[in-house]
Amino acid sequence: MLVDSHCHLDFPQLADDVEQVIGLMRANDVGCALCIGVSLEGLGRVLQLAEAWPMLLATVGVHPEETGVREPTVDELVELAGHRRVVAIGETGLDYYWHKDAPEWQRERFRTHIRAARAAGKPLVVHTREAAADTLRLMAEEGAAEVGGIMHCFTESWPVAEAALDLGFHISLSGIVTFRKAVTVRDVALRVPLDRLLVETDSPYLAPVPYRGKTNQPAYVRHVAEEVARLRGLSYQQIADATTANFFNLFPEARTKVAQ
Ligand code: NI
Repeated sequence: MLVDSHCHLDFPQLADDVEQVIGLMRANDVGCALCIGVSLEGLGRVLQLAEAWPMLLATVGVHPEETGVREPTVDELVELAGHRRVVAIGETGLDYYWHKDAPEWQRERFRTHIRAARAAGKPLVVHTREAAADTLRLMAEEGAAEVGGIMHCFTESWPVAEAALDLGFHISLSGIVTFRKAVTVRDVALRVPLDRLLVETDSPYLAPVPYRGKTNQPAYVRHVAEEVARLRGLSYQQIADATTANFFNLFPEARTKVAQ
């Protein structure tokens, strides 16, 4: 069995086809997918999915790209994290690609999420883009190692991966690992300790080869796992077993929440 550690099934590209999406997950050995919250306004739809489908779990957070949305407080995130289908805080982090001015509100929002994760005792789902140094600095300053979590859709260099691993975080690889030109990601895929590796789709985005450019969905995480297996000289089953065990070790409460 495989787990897709990061997807957005509530986004319009997928929201009307969830039944088919679930069917294709079943047909491809994908037994669980983590549906990621990106705003308080949209959280209701994410929770509905996780309530409706035993294979789906949820996270609560406000994405660093989001502007014009309600800013969460620590208390609010902690309370929302108490929902029975929520296993993590995020997606949070820093994104200086979409916000090139590196605004202070992003760092404040990230700090709020780390504080909430520690208060709730739940791991973090971290997004970082062109902001690795600040991301790691804030994780260290706010004590993110206490809860750990996922560096999602990892595209940074090996030294950044190493620093995140040192903080107790897992590295999650997306379909980018199947792109031939993604040399850095493929290098990281070889070097992450097998017991700290996760796989994800980030669907509806970043469909792996051979679906590149199309709408992504959790079933395609199989192609991510197959490529990681090929790179590391392991079998698909070894990667599936390891990444699934890692997911349930990181989120012990997910074991009983996911109907397998
Ligand atoms: Ni995401």
